[in-house]
Amino acid sequence: MTSEIPTIRSIHYLGSKLRMLEAIKESIDKVAPKGGAVCDLFAGSGTVSKYLLQFGNVISVDIQKYSQVICEASMSLLETSPDANDILLDIKNHTVSKTLNRCFDELINYEKNCTAAAKCGNIAPLYEIIEHGSLYILDKEQTDELTSELKRLMNHSLSMLNKTVLLDTVDSMICRYYGGLYFSYEQAVNLDCIAHWVFEQNGLLHTKALAALLSTASDIVNTVGKQFAQPLKVRNSKGELKVSLLTKITTDRSEDVYTIFRKWLAYYFSVGDSTHKYYTICDDYANALKKLKEYNVSVVYADPPYTRYHYSRYYHVLETICLRDNPEVSTTFPNGKGGISRAIYRSERHQSPFCIKSQAEGAFDVLFEKVKKLNVPLVLSYSPFDASKAVTPRLQTIDQLVEKAKQYFSQVEIVSPGEFTHSKLNSTEKNFEANHEAELLLVCR
Ligand SMILES: C[S@@+](CC[C@H](N)C(=O)[O-])C[C@H]1O[C@@H](n2cnc3c(N)ncnc32)[C@H](O)[C@@H]1O
Repeated sequence: MTSEIPTIRSIHYLGSKLRMLEAIKESIDKVAPKGGAVCDLFAGSGTVSKYLLQFGNVISVDIQKYSQVICEASMSLLETSPDANDILLDIKNHTVSKTLNRCFDELINYEKNCTAAAKCGNIAPLYEIIEHGSLYILDKEQTDELTSELKRLMNHSLSMLNKTVLLDTVDSMICRYYGGLYFSYEQAVNLDCIAHWVFEQNGLLHTKALAALLSTASDIVNTVGKQFAQPLKVRNSKGELKVSLLTKITTDRSEDVYTIFRKWLAYYFSVGDSTHKYYTICDDYANALKKLKEYNVSVVYADPPYTRYHYSRYYHVLETICLRDNPEVSTTFPNGKGGISRAIYRSERHQSPFCIKSQAEGAFDVLFEKVKKLNVPLVLSYSPFDASKAVTPRLQTIDQLVEKAKQYFSQVEIVSPGEFTHSKLNSTEKNFEANHEAELLLVCR
């Protein structure tokens, strides 16, 4: 039995390896010489990195900033942590927090009234906020689809933001872009207030507080599966509002941001490891593999994406919170038609070669070649799919991968750690992870 620290899910993550950590470690131990670091090449939610750090040094790599933040915050130890009550007081008393609350006061009250009305049977006004409540979209497109009351109040908030010089600043980014759609307006304002404080801090305190903010956003988001690929679809195929969603909507949107943030602060302030060393690299895997020559790496563990769905699609809001910018937003269709994407995707969202049909094979060539050059073994995770089920096929089959791996490594072994279920979207939206599949590990040396 190797598990020592209970592993916590920092963010709700599709395809986290939480349930096969011991199997991954067993395969790594079989091939890795003692003393060097494990490189977790596609670290994602950091679950594997965090687990392995109990036993030795770890280098976490991912192209996404939010992944680096969560990995660093989970693995490093803060020598002295400030009192969470003082932090919350600081945040709530900040001038920016007070101003933001004033700008959104009427809209927040309106949403509260809509929620009360929805509980009495009139769901349309609340559902309208989820469908059309983005201030960012209204500011750019001034749509006619809105009822006059919601439009008036959203325009009022925009003009208040303008007057208080918060309109185009990052300080109002979460409420302008994502308020109404992914979060209630009140939650979005509170997330912005926290973000302002977080970005006034430095060093590890900043990183831990930012991770606590990401975990909070992930906990409260009002979507299916707690990802950010799209706001809730509140209508059925006939265009009727789905009454069945009401409990989920009112529960998610009434979660208290500050209470959850305090819980996550306590968590990140308490975790970390000072026995072993860790490094994080936020870069493309190919660049990172080049940089690894400077480190004493004994094995690479790789868990790349396998379907055409980019991870950046599911976590773009977390990425934007970390990058703290006012991103350009993509349109529904690449030619600019269809207006601004309803999911508010950032335009330069990362497109992984592993998720592009014409590039996936080449991406694995680069992976195998560069790990081989490092002269260390590779443990590669693979989630196969059952062609008889309506799930998204992997862009590479296991046979193709084994054949390719054999071009670079003299021994390629397939290890089956057993049945386990991936986190997945709901049963009607079978577009991400398959159910009850045998996850495989390819051990190459
Ligand atoms: C299957 S997930 C990893 C999950 C992780 N093992 C866990 O337990 O949370 C794949 C990860 O690969 C990252 N990724 C995709 N393309 C990449 C690239 N070209 N370079 C580096 N990371 C990449 C994605 O951002 C995503 O976090």
